[in-house]
Parts: sequence; structure tokens; C-alpha cells
Amino acid sequence: MMTVRDKLNRPLRDLRISVTDRCNFRCQYCMPAEIFGPDYAFLSSDKILSFGEIERLVKIFVALGVKKVRITGGEPLLRRDLPVLIERLYQIQGVEDIALTTNGTLLKKYAQALAQAGLSRVSVSLDSLDEQRFAEMNGQRGKVVTVLEGIEKAVEAGLAVKINMVVQKGKNEQDIAEMARFFKEKQHILRFIEYMDVGNSNGWRLDDVVPKREILTQVQNFSPLHPVKPNYTGEVATRYQYEDGQGEIGVISSVTDSFCSTCSRARISAEGTLYTCLFATNGVNLRELLRSNADDAVIIERISEIWEQRVDRYSDERNEQTVQKRRNAKIEMSHIGG
Ligand code: GTP
Ligand code: 5AD
Ligand code: SF4
Ligand code: SF4
Repeated sequence: MMTVRDKLNRPLRDLRISVTDRCNFRCQYCMPAEIFGPDYAFLSSDKILSFGEIERLVKIFVALGVKKVRITGGEPLLRRDLPVLIERLYQIQGVEDIALTTNGTLLKKYAQALAQAGLSRVSVSLDSLDEQRFAEMNGQRGKVVTVLEGIEKAVEAGLAVKINMVVQKGKNEQDIAEMARFFKEKQHILRFIEYMDVGNSNGWRLDDVVPKREILTQVQNFSPLHPVKPNYTGEVATRYQYEDGQGEIGVISSVTDSFCSTCSRARISAEGTLYTCLFATNGVNLRELLRSNADDAVIIERISEIWEQRVDRYSDERNEQTVQKRRNAKIEMSHIGG
């Protein structure tokens, strides 16, 4: 196994693979229904990587240093026979951890099969415990009770569970403390995610972000916390434990406190394009390479060249710009008058 490093000396450790571009939700911040409507052209099945192609890619990435694999989407459980893919990835020597990011609606049905196939962990997205607010956020597609049942099934199946809550100003900030209380009780790690400017469809504005420090204040008002060390270098969430020893939360603050300097994540879209940053504008088509007669050594070489050229640090740069903009926007002292 080799370890490739990028221009900022970051290794390649995590591979996030999207297995479908479809979702049964229409979260306003991710796939707004106005844009992802009935006529939206989702990928046809011939354009999507097959399980065989994904398996081959994972082996290739393991040869370059990857140890963690995360299956994402869209909603990954919409991909037919997903447990079969998990089982195939689980067999690969060098894959230490397989996780899944899901909206939880189909977990009830698949949790057992996923766990049996070798999945270790699930991150379940849930933005509110209030049915009405949750429906508003997911485009009227899903119920809190269904997600909670899915979480229960995941626990019963022996999967480690984390909950992800995207916090959006004016939408669900009032749910912060209640979510914290509920999942503290349930003994699940809840991670609050600052609303990010991913993609181009969500009309992101900095004003819609509830900053990490405000989230922490709200949780602290419910139950005091202290910071704890990351579980591993490059962990996305900053961790906090409750002072009473009963559980922990995380905050993913890519807007107010970005974490690019330790980012070891590569992403592959459902159609097999490699992106070296969540905010990338260009990717590299690996599907074509896989479907050509290139052998593994050629593909390994190609990906390692890409990683070695990597300079992405979008969130850090946005922060620097935001600070810069604020600076430019400030009124001159000469104008205000000392
Ligand atoms: P573990 O620490 O392994 O449990 O997983 P994780 O936190 O990396 O995975 P998860 O998919 O649960 O990530 C939670 C959220 O963090 C994602 O949905 C994104 O919103 C955000 N996130 C993950 N990786 C990145 C990243 O590389 N950059 C940015 N800006 N945000 C990220
Ligand atoms: N900002 C922050 N998090 C987002 N997610 C999707 N879009 C955004 C965004 N704009 C989160 C989902 C889920 C994971 C897949 O990514 O809520 O937890
Ligand atoms: Fe996006 Fe996840 Fe919401 Fe689906 S459930 S629209 S993938 S954030
Ligand atoms: Fe990594 Fe890009 Fe996210 Fe920074 S913005 S942490 S480089 S994916």
C-alpha cells in the first residue's frame, strides 16, 4: 500500500461514494422541489457505476491509502440490493470501516440486512422532531416517526448510530435544545451541521447560518458541556461531552470554523466522477477509465496524480473571503468620524 499526499500534505484516507442521485426527500437546502421536479433528468442506470465497478474502485483507492468508506447519495437505500454492495466491500482487505449516510426512511426495512452484510455505522439525517417543521424542511415527503423507527431498527441490528441535524436560521433553530435532549436520552451522538453553500440550488446566504457558538449556547442552556479531543485526525465534527457524563454531541462548523487543513476525503459521484472537494466545480470521469481497457495500475497512477495535484480548501477560502468582505463593507473611520 502506498500513501499519496496532496500539495498541502494531506493523505487520502476516506472515500465517499454516492450510489444514486435520487432521493425520496426534497430538502430545501439540498434538492429543492422547484428544481428537482417530476421532469428532472436523473441519471439513467447505464450511466451509474455498477457494483462491480464500485468494488474495483474501492480496491484501487485502498491501494492509495483509503481505510474508510462511506456510502452516500441522494438516498443510498433507494439503490437496489445495497446490502449486496456492502457485503462485497466488506470482503476487501484494508477496508477498516464502512458507514452509510441516510435519511432513515428505509432503515426499518434494511437495517438488519445492512448490518449482516458488514456495515458498521449509519449517520441518520433528522432536522426536527416536530412533524410539521420536518415536513416543511424535507418537501413534505417524510415523517419523523418513520425515521425514529428506522433508528430503533438500526440499534437493534447492532449498527452504531449518529444523528445529523442541519441547522437553518428561521427554519429549525428552535429545535436545537429539544433534539439535544431527545438524543441525549436515547444515548445517540447528535451532530449539528452549519448550513453550507453546497451546490447552486439552495440560494445559500451567510445570514441563514446559525453559527457553532450559538448552537453551543443553546445546548449548554439545556445541559452544560465541555470540549473533548477528536477521535481521529481530521474528524469533521468537533466533540463536546455533557458535564454529567451522559453522552456527547458534535458540531460540524464548515462555515464559521472550517477544517480543510486535515481533509483527507475523496468523493465519487453516482456516475463515477471523482471530486477532491465537496465544493469542487470540476471532477474527473473515472467511469470512462473503468470502461476502457485500462488496467488497475493505470487507474491507480491516474488517481494518484490527481491527488498529488490537489490544493482544495474551499471552506477555508470562503472564511477568508467572508472576513475580507466584512472588512471591505465596514465603514471607514474617516467617514464615521473617529
Ligand atoms: P464520521 O466522523 O466518520 O462519523 O463521519 P462524518 O462526520 O465524516 O460523516 P457524515 O456523512 O455523517 O458527515 C456529516 C456532515 O458533515 C456531512 O453531511 C456534511 O454536511 C459535512 N461534511 C462531511 N465531510 C465534509 C467535508 O469534507 N467538507 C465539508 N465542508 N463538510 C463536510
Ligand atoms: N448544508 C449542510 N448540510 C447539508 N446536507 C445536505 N445539504 C447540506 C447543506 N446545504 C447534509 C444532510 C445530511 C448529509 C447528507 O448532508 O442533512 O446530513
Ligand atoms: Fe438531500 Fe439527504 Fe435531504 Fe435527500 S434526504 S434531499 S440527499 S439532504
Ligand atoms: Fe475538504 Fe473541501 Fe470540505 Fe475543505 S471544503 S473540508 S477541502 S471537502
